[in-house]
Amino acid sequence: MKEIKSIDRTYVANTYARFDVALTSGSGSVAYDENGTKYIDMGAGIAVNLFGYSDPVWQQAVIQQLQSLQHTSNLYYTEPCALLAKELCERTGMKKVFYCNSGAEANECAIKAARKYGSKKGADCYKIITMTDSFHGRTLTTLAATGQDHFHELFQPLTPGFLYAKDMDDIQKYVATEKVAGILIECVQGEGGVNVFSEEFVKGVYELCQKEDIILLVDEVQTGNGRCGELYAFMHYGIMPDVVTTAKGLGGGLPIGCTMLGEKVKDIFAPGDNGSTFGGNPVVCAGALSNLKRLDDTLLAEVRRKGQKIKDAFANAEGVKSVSGLGLMIGIEPSSKKASDVAAECLKNHVLVLTAGHNRVRLLPALNIEDDLLDQAIEVIKEALKEG
Ligand SMILES: Cc1ncc(COP(=O)(O)O)c(C=O)c1O
Repeated sequence: MKEIKSIDRTYVANTYARFDVALTSGSGSVAYDENGTKYIDMGAGIAVNLFGYSDPVWQQAVIQQLQSLQHTSNLYYTEPCALLAKELCERTGMKKVFYCNSGAEANECAIKAARKYGSKKGADCYKIITMTDSFHGRTLTTLAATGQDHFHELFQPLTPGFLYAKDMDDIQKYVATEKVAGILIECVQGEGGVNVFSEEFVKGVYELCQKEDIILLVDEVQTGNGRCGELYAFMHYGIMPDVVTTAKGLGGGLPIGCTMLGEKVKDIFAPGDNGSTFGGNPVVCAGALSNLKRLDDTLLAEVRRKGQKIKDAFANAEGVKSVSGLGLMIGIEPSSKKASDVAAECLKNHVLVLTAGHNRVRLLPALNIEDDLLDQAIEVIKEALKEG
């Protein structure tokens, strides 16, 4: 089975720096490699496997749908597509949903919505403000939206029209001097280092958007679907965005992207304005609907409890400079070690962790991870963080 790695290295495009392990199966928060070695997974496929591997409830919803209708096309109605949109809208206050297959695509659609809304004020009203250290995807437009220069360097020219802000002062300056159609934020920046924005900042952006009739776009690709201890992270902040994007965990392991449109932009699109062959696929939507229905108050309270437990465990641990995060989205800053070395050390000891910008170890475990597995993983990560 060593072959898996060598075939992959030969034939799969070299876009990923993979860990030296091939995973072959999993159950809950445990994964197995080709030799049968067991790992505790604290990354959940980068916030995708909401209920871990081989989750029987999600599997059942998916299989049942798979056996009746795997795909139609968006020329026809299907029940899972309609019911998932209804559930998403009823639980978020959004009004309509556009479906696609990934976070980047969901953000593309969000940007289109803001631009089309802006165009009603004038052809030059198309600028979108995004934040330094943000991450919004890898298509040319979402790369342009991503406020990290090193992602831009090799792919010029990118889609024009993005303005990068460090803070509220920058945002206010842009709004005063440019024609701004939208402001795009993550409430907690994931790839950028697990940076949690303050309530003051997020509310300030919301109020400014309302006052200036600017579309507030909240990227919940990583933070959404229970990850931060509320159904969507914006719910921690007492705001109502105009557009919310999500992906990753909603599908539980099958590809989905959603752009949820609020009151202001619910009818912004007309037939032909956007589309996606697989968007709203009935199998993916059936699994997503099952996932969403399980994200109730009890589960969200558990997410908050476990998140706090992780934070407490690392707050004063040896080799830790700082801990950040919300719910089960946690960043740990080592005092002096490289986060990538900590991740490699954890892997050696059979715990899978992620890294993020600004030298963070990033933890995104399944929302239902058992406490004993969590405790074991915490001990391994603590050891890996120790100096010397
Ligand atoms: C906040 C955020 N937005 C967008 C994306 C892009 O999502 P995808 O990889 O599904 O295109 C990611 C992926 O990590 C993300 O974390």
